[in-house]
Formats: sequence, C-alpha cells, structure tokens
Amino acid sequence: MQAMLDLFAALERELGAHMTKEEAVIFPYVVSLEAHLLIGRSLARSPFGVLERPLRIMVEEQCQTRLLLAAMRGASKGYRRPPGSSPSVAEFYRGLEALEHDLAEHGRLETECLFPRALELEQRAQGSPHRGLPSPPLDVTG
Ligand SMILES: [Fe+2]
Repeated sequence: MQAMLDLFAALERELGAHMTKEEAVIFPYVVSLEAHLLIGRSLARSPFGVLERPLRIMVEEQCQTRLLLAAMRGASKGYRRPPGSSPSVAEFYRGLEALEHDLAEHGRLETECLFPRALELEQRAQGSPHRGLPSPPLDVTG
C-alpha cells in the first residue's frame, strides 16, 4: 500500500503543477487570443513566446500522468482490493479508476480540440493586420 501512496503523492504533485500552469498561464493567454480576434481587445503579451512549446510540455505531462496511473494500476493488480483491507481501500481504488477516466478525457479534449484550436488562434492573431475591432463588429453578447 505504501507504493500506492507514494505514486499517488507523485500524481498529485504532477497534476497540481500541470493544472496550475494551464489555469494561471496558458488558458488566460488562449482566452486573450480569442478576445483579440473576436472583439479586438489588445493582445496580451505571451509569457512564453509562442504556444507550441508550452503545449508540447502539457502533452508530455499528460504522458507522465498516464505512466503514473499505469504504475498505480499495476501496483494494485488492476485496482483489486487486497484481502483483509478496509472498505476505504476499495473506495480509493474506485476513485482512482474514475480519475483515470477523467484524465483520459481531459487529455483527449486538450490534444484533439483545445490545443489545435489555440495554435490556430495564435497563428490568426499574429497574422491579423489589425489590432482593433473587426469590421463589421462581431456580436459576442448573445
Ligand atoms: Fe491539461
């Protein structure tokens, strides 16, 4: 069980750092790209150059997360509750399976939808000849 707890602590650190980078740096920049292109808001300065590098790091971190989850699945023999263990172990394993599912969806959405869209937005924003409202102005309130 100690191996599982150590792996879980590593997973928690990995996910915490990953989510913090996304929520504090990458996603606000992507939102600023969208706002620039839709309503002409001035483009926020990127804290990391172009998006490709941090997005590549995010994908690498997804791989690291999958490796940690695979190690946990292996260490627990497929999340099988050891004989004589408390019901809370079974609950912990059910939670891990749910987390594994959610993180797979998180990764899929990012790599198939969000990241390609963000790269496209950045390319359009950098190539756009204007830095103001598009003409005619777009209605983004409705
Ligand atoms: Fe992510």
